[in-house]
Amino acid sequence: MITPELHDSRFMRAARLETTDTTPIWIMRQAGRYLPEYMAVRKTVTFLELCKRPDLSAEVTLTAQQVLGVDAAILFADLLPILEPMGFGLTYEKGEGPVIGRPVRSPEDVDRVRELENIDELGFVFDTVRLVRRDLPADIPLLGFAGAPFTLASYAIEGGSSKDFVRTKRFLYSHPQAWNNLMQRMSASLVRYLKGQIDAGCQAVQIFDSWVGCLSPSDYRQYVLPHTKAVIDALPDDVPVINFLTGNPALLPLQREAGGQVFGIDWRIDLKDAWQTLGHDVAVQGNLEPVSLFADLDTLRTRAQAVIDSAEGRPGHIFNLGHGVMPDMDPDNVKALVKMVHEMGARTG
Ligand code: CP3
Repeated sequence: MITPELHDSRFMRAARLETTDTTPIWIMRQAGRYLPEYMAVRKTVTFLELCKRPDLSAEVTLTAQQVLGVDAAILFADLLPILEPMGFGLTYEKGEGPVIGRPVRSPEDVDRVRELENIDELGFVFDTVRLVRRDLPADIPLLGFAGAPFTLASYAIEGGSSKDFVRTKRFLYSHPQAWNNLMQRMSASLVRYLKGQIDAGCQAVQIFDSWVGCLSPSDYRQYVLPHTKAVIDALPDDVPVINFLTGNPALLPLQREAGGQVFGIDWRIDLKDAWQTLGHDVAVQGNLEPVSLFADLDTLRTRAQAVIDSAEGRPGHIFNLGHGVMPDMDPDNVKALVKMVHEMGARTG
């Protein structure tokens, strides 16, 4: 059930391509290490412990929305804890990022990947959603999220972060049947997980295909699109899905085919061109180059204005970075960006 306040919020109106008083904005990784309020909580627990503590995860989610004044909160969680109940190990090592235990290296390894059946194993996420929804302002939507099947499968195969995704590509070219199996298990698990977030109280969900830009359009079509589409098709029609990917604007037409109401785009293409390619009957989210936040405020303003101008005053633009905020960015600049966008995006007349 969506309340009238949430239904009429800037974010939800923009997701439906309706006019808003000003451009809505939220920021990927808005609740991260650049924020002193986050670091104060994070000092007391490991990252994974934080993800599994609904009280602390809710606090971090709410604080970020409040101090930034953004138009949506994003659930504090991570892409990878879903892998634990699917049979993988998971740790986060300082300086190294995530490390996945028992990665998939052969077709036989796919047989031991368990589909997530009992979503209670991720109950801490749904508890966080309920706590956040209870305390979030009535007109601020809460976004849930998950990885897309490809990005999740890439972690399962690489065993952690990767620059070139050679293991992942090698696996899918060498073992297309096993790849298909792995992607089906990922997709079925993701549908249950995302529905759980929606049932617990999220108003929209973002699907992060952060690393799929390493593929060509024809590989995306063959090895990825049917699975991402299956996830999006299985979600309720009245909950906007933000379909986000980075790294390869040539994938835009296929991203559209995969589905969603809002399309998250990175900075490697002008927003105007991306929207033209996607079609003006869908909403867009993006796409300020994140490094702009390191520039002086005048430069930041000019660059943010260029993104707003690129939307040509059309309803259905949700401002965001083309990717996430970085740990050493100045929180004051992030706050300044939110203010600027609200000022510059204000409709005149
Ligand atoms: O956006 C938000 O504020 C919500 C929280 C959020 C986190 N991760 C918190 C986090 C979200 C939406 C994510 C998604 C996520 N996680 C992605 C996709 C997002 C993207 O940028 O495309 C990916 C690829 C992951 C996996 C992941 N989690 C990696 C690679 C790392 C290590 C990164 C690093 O630089 O160390 C994480 C850890 C992580 N996730 C942190 C946070 C705040 C830092 C952990 C810490 O406090 O030490």
